[in-house]
Amino acid sequence: MREKIEVLITEEQLDKRISEIANQINKDFESKDIILVCVLKGGVMFMTDIAKKLKQTVEFEFIDVSSYYGGTESSGKLTINKDLETCIEGKHVILLEDIVDTGRTLSYLIEYLKEKNPASLKLCTLLDKPSRRVVDVNADYIGFTIPDAFIVGYGLDYAQKYRNLPYIGILHLDNE
Ligand code: IMP
Ligand code: MG
Repeated sequence: MREKIEVLITEEQLDKRISEIANQINKDFESKDIILVCVLKGGVMFMTDIAKKLKQTVEFEFIDVSSYYGGTESSGKLTINKDLETCIEGKHVILLEDIVDTGRTLSYLIEYLKEKNPASLKLCTLLDKPSRRVVDVNADYIGFTIPDAFIVGYGLDYAQKYRNLPYIGILHLDNE
């Protein structure tokens, strides 16, 4: 199998759109302190880039859940591999995801974080694949709505590869 990557969103497009979302968050939160909760590992690039454009006091938190088992489809079962290290009760939380696909991960995380009683909880995803939704979830901030394709780059992986690409691409698996 040959792996080919077709550019879908360039570095410049990512930078422009991330600035727009950051501006919106700056408006919505003004002088409120924020805790950014990054969903590992895919959300890392997005978190670091958007955080640099935010004007409030920002704290970083990370959470890691397994829903993928090496393939290209998520399973319904989720486990927390790494939990938050701080108490988010009474705090303004923005959950940062790389992509919402079936919606299982995000809907699970929303319930999980809500139980911790944050002052507010917003969902921000770089990519949204609405055509694949199984669970009904809607993000408050969406970078790009994309077609049903398997995406890599800018944090997103295929079997742990391609996370370091500075752009977003569609992965094509060709029989040679
Ligand atoms: P969901 O639970 O099906 O919404 O999937 C969420 C997680 O699956 C995302 O946070 C990604 O880590 C991963 N995922 C979903 N679609 C893709 C893709 O096209 N490329 C790489 N990872 C993906
Ligand atoms: Mg993810």
